[in-house]
Amino acid sequence: LKIYVPLDSGSIALGADDVATAVATEIGKRNIDAKLVRNGSRGMYWLEPMVEVETPTGRFAYGPVTPKDVASLFDADFIAGSDHALALGPTEEIPFLKKQTRLTFARCGIIDPLSIEDYRAYEGFAGLDKAVTMKPADIVKQVTDSGLRGRGGAGFPTGIKWNTVLGAESSQKYIVCNADEGDSGTFADRMIMEGEPFVLIEGMAIAGIATGATKGYLYTRSEYPDAIRVMEEAVKVARAGGILGKNILGSEYDFDMEVRTGAGAYVCGEETSLLNSLEGKRGVVRAKPPLPALEGFMGRPTVVNNVLSLASVPIIMDKGADFYRDFGMGRSRGTIPIQLAGNIKFGGLFETAFGLTLGELVDDIGGGTATGRPVRAVQVGGPLGAYFPRDLFDTPFDYEEFAKRDGLIGHAGIVVFDDSVDLMKQARFAMEFCAIESCGKCTPCRIGAVRGVETVDKIAQGDDPDGQIELLHDLCDTMKFGSLCALGGFTPYPVLSALTHFPEDFKPRALDIA
Ligand code: NAI
Ligand code: SF4
Repeated sequence: LKIYVPLDSGSIALGADDVATAVATEIGKRNIDAKLVRNGSRGMYWLEPMVEVETPTGRFAYGPVTPKDVASLFDADFIAGSDHALALGPTEEIPFLKKQTRLTFARCGIIDPLSIEDYRAYEGFAGLDKAVTMKPADIVKQVTDSGLRGRGGAGFPTGIKWNTVLGAESSQKYIVCNADEGDSGTFADRMIMEGEPFVLIEGMAIAGIATGATKGYLYTRSEYPDAIRVMEEAVKVARAGGILGKNILGSEYDFDMEVRTGAGAYVCGEETSLLNSLEGKRGVVRAKPPLPALEGFMGRPTVVNNVLSLASVPIIMDKGADFYRDFGMGRSRGTIPIQLAGNIKFGGLFETAFGLTLGELVDDIGGGTATGRPVRAVQVGGPLGAYFPRDLFDTPFDYEEFAKRDGLIGHAGIVVFDDSVDLMKQARFAMEFCAIESCGKCTPCRIGAVRGVETVDKIAQGDDPDGQIELLHDLCDTMKFGSLCALGGFTPYPVLSALTHFPEDFKPRALDIA
């Protein structure tokens, strides 16, 4: 008998460790033949800590559980799937989970993250098993045909990136996994690392085989201590299990990897600044070209892919390009793990095919705001994403559809705000964020962001507000077209969208800035 309590840091923040201790104590006290398994999160954070028990008819869930509830769960025949007040029913039947198409997150929350046997039992490594029998160019073709695009934010076709690295002549190539998940309201990379690390290791190994890279680095953030611990352990387990190292799964291919931690700069999520940091240098952006695919880590051809891009590769190799391609709309193929956050009733991870509208995601799936007040704005794509008003809630979740409306889906984080939000304050925040996080290399960003904060302050002070608004538009133009990287180049998105959709907020008044 197995009882599951998540080890995911979101769940731990909500008390999962104490619940796990209470479950272990009850098992001991009652002398029950049961095993406590620490799983990843299913991604329904309003129900965490969610405890699951294995019953003859499948997994049964309870939540949110506090340590005080645990004894009563055992008293109420917890183990047989009772009608306890916290009972949620069969886990897979919970509507938020049932409505999803989980391809990338297929096993997250189901398995013990560090058990290779569990991972294999749920078709894990089936993609790698196939890849080791294939030629690199055929693997690259399959990924290209699947239509997979970079899930870090830019949406660049993964297969084309891999092809550039495959075609580059070098005695050493690298795979770098960008796990420096810094966008506001995003947590999908962390969930994979904590809940299903082998899918990422498998994706990196396949990327290595496909491009001729024998060494990989997972670069993540110091703010993710649990993810670092699980990933480091998973790498050791994979190495011991013949998944990493020389002659992967008995093949001619070699690939090994290690985990590296950043020092807390948002800009190190930008690929060239990440590479500098990985090389032990200051995290300053490099000019492109040269592309990292040709001159990346230590000047060698390097694939830099986000966690979700790499974690989507195993299922593409296992089930085929057409299977993956069949999901989605337009040029956005496959599924996208959307993160619902901010002031939202049902916050969590919702993986689905591209194409649902923003309104369906926020109102129907997310249940509107947690405060119960009307939704006024949602910011999609992190701190540099645009604010969308309700009028744009018919926008389908698709790279091109968002771009048409001057927005971006970025890393697919959605942050919801109710009608108490002040969009002039949010515009000021965007500029302030850029000023603080700027790497300082180029002038439009380094100086523009500081001027941006001053300009918003002048509007608030009533110092020629109309002239300042014009100036703010001008400044955004300069930053958008003159910045070297997306940090300075995308800061105009939240500012201009706030100006365009919520002009009534840009008027003289006291700005309540903490
Ligand atoms: P980009 O458009 O410059 O590049 C996209 C990717 O394609 C890069 O990896 C680039 O090296 C590669 N590439 C382009 N042409 C290539 C070719 N011919 N062969 C091989 N590779 C090629 O975008 P960038 O600056 O890398 O990313 C910007 C995005 O990052 C934004 O859309 C934003 O949403 C996102 N972002 C994500 C964050 C997160 O936490 N995940 C944080 C901040 C921004
Ligand atoms: Fe650095 Fe900002 Fe220029 Fe990017 S836009 S290179 S973060 S100064």
